[in-house]
Amino acid sequence: MSETVKPFSDSVAEYIRACRVKPHPESYLISVLQKVQTEQGYLSRESMDEVSQMMQVPVSQVTGVATFYHFFQFKPKGRHTVTVCMGTACFVRGAGKVLEKLSEVLKIQVGETTPDGEFSIEQARCLGACAMAPIVVVDGRVYGNVQPPDVVRILEEHGLKS
Ligand code: FES
Repeated sequence: MSETVKPFSDSVAEYIRACRVKPHPESYLISVLQKVQTEQGYLSRESMDEVSQMMQVPVSQVTGVATFYHFFQFKPKGRHTVTVCMGTACFVRGAGKVLEKLSEVLKIQVGETTPDGEFSIEQARCLGACAMAPIVVVDGRVYGNVQPPDVVRILEEHGLKS
């Protein structure tokens, strides 16, 4: 299935063109892909093809760089991102059970998005709020001392239909 991809903004296209004329354009691939991901939310196959053509670098090299680094994403995120902290403090205070409950309610795993495009689940290391462990963050809103029975209420605040 082919995806509809927004064209790059003028500033991203200009950045790519500027990189292409530098001595080793391929050495700018990480920063180019970061800009594309920031703008589009993820790296689609089409956008990586476009980067390859614009930079005149083989597509295999573009995808090789993109898949090597864990911070690149290849699927669009949901409207709401639910991040569970799995750092040590959160983990020992039950973050694993919270994550299990989230997966059970949304029927997806970490890194996935619900089929309706509403929710994505991510995990993080330490979010810097260990005193309130375990921590869940939804669209930037921080929930502390979260226990599995709290999960549905939190999701409902962000539009989950019961
Ligand atoms: S370990 Fe979760 S906030 Fe620090």
